[in-house]
Amino acid sequence: MNAPVLAPLTVADLEEVALIENVSFTAPWPTSAYVTELTTNRLARYVGARIDGALVGFGGIWLMVDEAHITTMAVLPAIRRNGVATALLLELLQEARRGGARVATLDVRVSNLDAQRLYLAFGFVEVGRRIRYYDDNDEDALVMTTAELESSVQLAIEARLRSKVVERSERG
Ligand SMILES: CC(C)(COP(=O)(O)OP(=O)(O)OC[C@H]1O[C@@H](n2cnc3c(N)ncnc32)[C@H](O)[C@@H]1OP(=O)(O)O)[C@@H](O)C(=O)NCCC(=O)NCCS
Repeated sequence: MNAPVLAPLTVADLEEVALIENVSFTAPWPTSAYVTELTTNRLARYVGARIDGALVGFGGIWLMVDEAHITTMAVLPAIRRNGVATALLLELLQEARRGGARVATLDVRVSNLDAQRLYLAFGFVEVGRRIRYYDDNDEDALVMTTAELESSVQLAIEARLRSKVVERSERG
């Protein structure tokens, strides 16, 4: 598989975003929510990943002063476990640093073990729980956070994951 090419998401990407969103989430965001994110939310940064021209994944953050909050992350099912989310999250955390964030945080469903494994690999740790946060099924959210983004431990985790992404792309 060719390496993903990353670029900021634009409104022109949203038809493809909807295809991935609808097969990835039980309560997908409508396209109108993404239009607002991309056109009026000054805190939002979204990145898409393309392989051979097709959008295969995307993720986003809100830059809230010293905290970057991961808002979403999804990869086309057929392309999962190929490092696309890892490449996206590496880029989003770099964007967070460029925007002055000190830490990154996120909410994830307690049942979403795949995503939790991804976040654990990035050094996110559980720091709390929001009870019945998701109103489609009353599920709790785990609240997770990184160490300080500039800490040696966090930089080392990301350097190791970046090498993995490069190795994968060299293998093809
Ligand atoms: C979570 C998600 C974004 C991961 O995307 P991905 O491109 O498959 O992730 P990666 O290939 O970069 O995986 C990185 C690491 O995360 C862990 N991981 C990811 N998916 C996993 C799975 N299904 N089972 C076990 N570990 C998994 C592994 O440690 C993996 O590294 P490895 O493949 O070298 O073992 C994808 O499964 C998805 O889109 N899920 C539906 C939407 C969703 O739940 N988004 C998160 C909302 S909080």
